[in-house]
Amino acid sequence: MEIRPTAGDSSWFVHDRFGLFITWGLYSLGARREWLRMEEKIPTDVYRQRYFNHFDPDLYDPCAWADAAADAGMKYFVITTKHHEGFCMWDTQHTDFKVTHTPARRDLILPAVDAFRNRGLRVGFYYSLIDWDHPHYRYDAHYGPWHDPADRERLNATRDQSKYAQYIRDQVTELLTRYGGIDMMWFDFSYPYVDGKNHNDWQSQQLYDLVRRLQPHVLINDRLDLPDGWDFKTPEKTRPREWVAVNGQQVVWEACHPFSVTWGYNRDEGNWKSTEQLVQMLIDSVSKGGNLLLNVGPTARGEFDQRAMDRLRGIGRWMRHHSRSIYGCTQAPQEYPTPEDCRLTWNPQTRRLYAHVLAWPFKDLYLDGLAGKVEYAQILNDASELKMLGPVSDYDKQRQSLTLQLPTVKPDVAVPVVELFLK
Ligand code: GLC
Repeated sequence: MEIRPTAGDSSWFVHDRFGLFITWGLYSLGARREWLRMEEKIPTDVYRQRYFNHFDPDLYDPCAWADAAADAGMKYFVITTKHHEGFCMWDTQHTDFKVTHTPARRDLILPAVDAFRNRGLRVGFYYSLIDWDHPHYRYDAHYGPWHDPADRERLNATRDQSKYAQYIRDQVTELLTRYGGIDMMWFDFSYPYVDGKNHNDWQSQQLYDLVRRLQPHVLINDRLDLPDGWDFKTPEKTRPREWVAVNGQQVVWEACHPFSVTWGYNRDEGNWKSTEQLVQMLIDSVSKGGNLLLNVGPTARGEFDQRAMDRLRGIGRWMRHHSRSIYGCTQAPQEYPTPEDCRLTWNPQTRRLYAHVLAWPFKDLYLDGLAGKVEYAQILNDASELKMLGPVSDYDKQRQSLTLQLPTVKPDVAVPVVELFLK
């Protein structure tokens, strides 16, 4: 089946498969959730006073971030230039609610872009369409710090959403003209499904055309609420069951997940996924033709905390031996059924099939449909040969089944991988 073509360049994206999301802003000081301004109904001036004068990421070292991402095997990064709170992490000319006016006193996006680029990673910008600070952003009944309809009406009386849409275009123009070639724009988000903000509120078509004009190759995500104006789908905090499709056609897609539940730094949250789960999530995406964008919420001092570092290092240990089953790989052809307790990925260039064994069995790994088709088989982490048998029984013959003889002891890696060289 043909995959839906993209207007932006997705060739690198479907090869690289694994990226780092960075959610960082004033809310990192609150250390509970990037939505705290809405959840706690904090008025604009209070929010500004409380956090603006205290944002001082004195330990910020973007080279250390880039190293952590590259060592984990990530090939691109997407950083919050502005989240829903409206605070800008770069030196924009269009608002004073920006990082250069805090004790940080410098553009924080520029050094990140340089550092990650120097480590060979591609660059993506997250830009929130939702903006709880801008004087012309109209408050609605769904997402915003104003829950009381009377308050909203009073505040909206002076608001002209089209001025806000112009502000988006002005800011996106800065982002796409000051930092060299940008590989991805990650807009967040529209909510027409609850009769909330939609493409009209952002003037999405104009925005889309502007982005395409400024940087024709940039990949654009799917949250502008345009029927055709997107390159890839962004399932959030879910694990799709199969290759993501729109109108029956498979599309380029990327699952995004935080380590825990929230995206910004959350000191007290306990629900962190284990390294093994995270590795499995990456494998699961690639086995369905998708990518994984894994999020870290740096502290307000500018560091990835220990929990994040432990996991990134753990993923890196796995990637060191197994990235061959991820980069350049995709869903396996239908003719190769997924073996028990496994996920398959496939590299069409090298014609190698990778069986990721999620539960290590005793000895026999049965591979239906592969009898006579495999030239050589090995465990990937140490390139140790695996003996191939069969088909022996009538059962195996019917299913054209090949049997691999696995060692009894599971290799000491998060998820062992069997590499099959097809004839
Ligand atoms: C969301 C949330 C947000 C997060 C983002 C990542 O819809 O509003 O906090 O940054 O998606 O996908």
